Amino acid sequence: MTDSSKTATLTIDGKSFDLPLLSPTAGPDVIDIRKLYAEAGVFTYDPGYTSTASCDSTITYIDGAKGELLHRGYPIDQLAEKSHYLEVCYLLLYGELPKASDLEAFEATITRHTMIHEQMHNFFRGFRRDAHPMATMVGVVGAMSAFYHDSTDISDPRQREIASHRMIAKMPTIAAMAYKYSIGQPFVYPRNDLDYASNFLHMCFAVPAEQYEVDPILSRAMDRIFILHADHEQNASTSTVRLASSSGANPFACIAAGIACLWGPAHGGANQACLEMLKEIGSVERIPEFIARAKDKDDPFRLMGFGHRVYKNVDPRAKVMKQSADEVLDLLGIENNPVLQVAKELEKQALDDPYFADKKLFPNVDFYSGIILEAMGFPTSMFTPIFALSRTVGWISQWKEQLSDPAHKIGRPRQLYLGETARDYIDVEDR
Ligand code: ACO
Repeated sequence: MTDSSKTATLTIDGKSFDLPLLSPTAGPDVIDIRKLYAEAGVFTYDPGYTSTASCDSTITYIDGAKGELLHRGYPIDQLAEKSHYLEVCYLLLYGELPKASDLEAFEATITRHTMIHEQMHNFFRGFRRDAHPMATMVGVVGAMSAFYHDSTDISDPRQREIASHRMIAKMPTIAAMAYKYSIGQPFVYPRNDLDYASNFLHMCFAVPAEQYEVDPILSRAMDRIFILHADHEQNASTSTVRLASSSGANPFACIAAGIACLWGPAHGGANQACLEMLKEIGSVERIPEFIARAKDKDDPFRLMGFGHRVYKNVDPRAKVMKQSADEVLDLLGIENNPVLQVAKELEKQALDDPYFADKKLFPNVDFYSGIILEAMGFPTSMFTPIFALSRTVGWISQWKEQLSDPAHKIGRPRQLYLGETARDYIDVEDR
């Protein structure tokens, strides 16, 4: 990783410090500042980590300028077209595509862990009947450490693996139960004869009173949504998982922290916010008004589903998502869907507008995912839980990678302090 032939020189008050440059397998070189404070007595300042690599990783690579996303080297569009979610999970967790027998064994393991402890059902019932499914998921996933003590010893690689399998297997069950609880329907147990995506759709949409058959095209679209959200290197929720884990916290607590972070509208909450925005726009005629608002510096409104911290080109996941949206709406016979029409026209007008072109703002993965999920019958409150269940494998793979590195340390950023310097306490009667 280190390329000793290259260094960066920092000069402070005439004194120079040589900083090593690390060369990645892809992407820009990284200045190694680990000894900077010890040697030069200064910190770096980078709120939002716009120029800071917080770790090294071999899992996911993004070239934001090219609009490229690779998992373990494989392009996301090839995985979305040729693979399926559990195979992608294996790839992310173990680093290589599985042989047929390994895949079969992995799928069998995940399938056999899909039920949750029966006592956890009581835990759901402690939430208010109208609780947002994300709020329920944060609580229930955090509570898993109280139910699965035999997989919380993070120093044991086998326990780490069991915890990983449990979370990938149980997250759809937890998300579906959170949904069922929020709409007052009975929980539906997982069915091990169904594939991962079909099982999730069944747990969400089946009711004891009647038969529910999962449409294979919808199940394929669901699986693709899972793949497209599976991992995205050091995004906010993944960094949250890594930071929580750096203290030695138990795996379920770390993933609960990731879920909590994902919920925000600038991150996983964007697909819900995007669909709500498309509905608020309502008709193609009103698009210029909303584009003008997005451009107005005095208006906090932003085009949801547009822009990305890393992609300064079309989000490669958005291309696949757009195609999936067309397929699903076609299958369901939803022609001339007004929301889709607004989305397509909004995309066109924004891409033609110099404001968005100059700032390199393109549609992101969330621009079309909400349309598909709504067409499938999910309410907007389920969009982020679906993102959370898809991203669980990414969080876990990154968590596993971090803990496998013997050199990992507790995450502890520094600060640029701008407050008062030391001053004497004043008694209350003298203030
Ligand atoms: N609409 C209008 N203007 C925008 C938008 C947008 N969606 N996104 C960014 N801009 C503008 C900003 O106002 C800013 O302009 P300025 O330079 O004149 O001040 C410039 O583009 C850069 O924006 P930043 O906020 O500095 O970029 P950052 O990388 O911090 O933000 C973010 C990225 C949060 C995703 C942002 O683009 C945004 O808020 N988008 C809408 C929410 C969204 O879709 N989030 C989903 C992200 S994908 C995911 O989490 C799976």
